[in-house]
Amino acid sequence: MRIYIDSANVEDIKLMIKRLPVDGVTTNPSLLAKEKNNPMKQLKAIKEVLEDHIELHAQVLSAHAEEMIKEAEYMREHLGENLYIKVPVTPDGIEAIKELHKRGVNITATAIYTPMQAVLAAKAGARWVAPYVNRLDMIGADGVLVATTIHDILTQINDKAGVLAASFKNVQQILNLSEIGVGAVTVSPELLKEILYHPLTDKAVCDFTNDFYKITSEGASM
Ligand code: E4P
Repeated sequence: MRIYIDSANVEDIKLMIKRLPVDGVTTNPSLLAKEKNNPMKQLKAIKEVLEDHIELHAQVLSAHAEEMIKEAEYMREHLGENLYIKVPVTPDGIEAIKELHKRGVNITATAIYTPMQAVLAAKAGARWVAPYVNRLDMIGADGVLVATTIHDILTQINDKAGVLAASFKNVQQILNLSEIGVGAVTVSPELLKEILYHPLTDKAVCDFTNDFYKITSEGASM
C-alpha cells in the first residue's frame, strides 16, 4: 500500500518525509488556503522538499473542462516531473480527464463519493481514483465500503487505475482499507502521528532504558 501525506504545509511534509516511508503528497485548494501563500508558490515550495521519487498531487480549480486542461498544462510547466493533476469527477472533470490522458498527463480523479464515479474516471484514464472515506461516513454512508467496492471493481475489470483513498479521520478506517489491499491512502500529518503512537510502546522503551542504566550509568547508550 502506498502512503501519501495529505497536506500543503512544507514543515509538516519535510518532517513526515524524513521519518516515514512516504510515496507522495496530496494537496487540495482548501489545504493550500490554510498556508496563506500564493498557491503556485506554495506548490513550488512543496516540490522543492520532495525527493525525485515522491509524487506531488495538485488540483485544478476551474469548473469547465477547457479551463481545467489549461490549468493542468500550466501546473505541468511549473511543477516538473512526478506530478499528478487532481481533477474532480464532475461531467466537465471527466471530459478533462479524457483529454489529459490522451496528452499523457498523470491524473488523480478526486471528490469521489460513489463507485460508478470512480469507474467512469478510471475508464476516462485516471491513474488514481480518490474516494472520500470520512466525508462519506459523515453523511451516514459507509466510506470504507465504498472504497472497498471501488477497489474490487477495478481489480475485477483489471483496470490500471488504483484506489487512493482520502479523507480519513481515524486509524481504523485506514486499517480496514489496508486489510483489503487498497492501492494507496493519503493521510494528514496529525493522523500519521496517531498511527505510530501507543503508550505501551513508550512504556516498553522507558523500561528497557531504566534496566540498561542499572548496569551502566544514567544517560549511557551502546
Ligand atoms: C484528498 O486529497 C482530499 O482532498 C482530502 O483527503 C479530503 O480530506 P478532508 O475530508 O479531511 O478534507
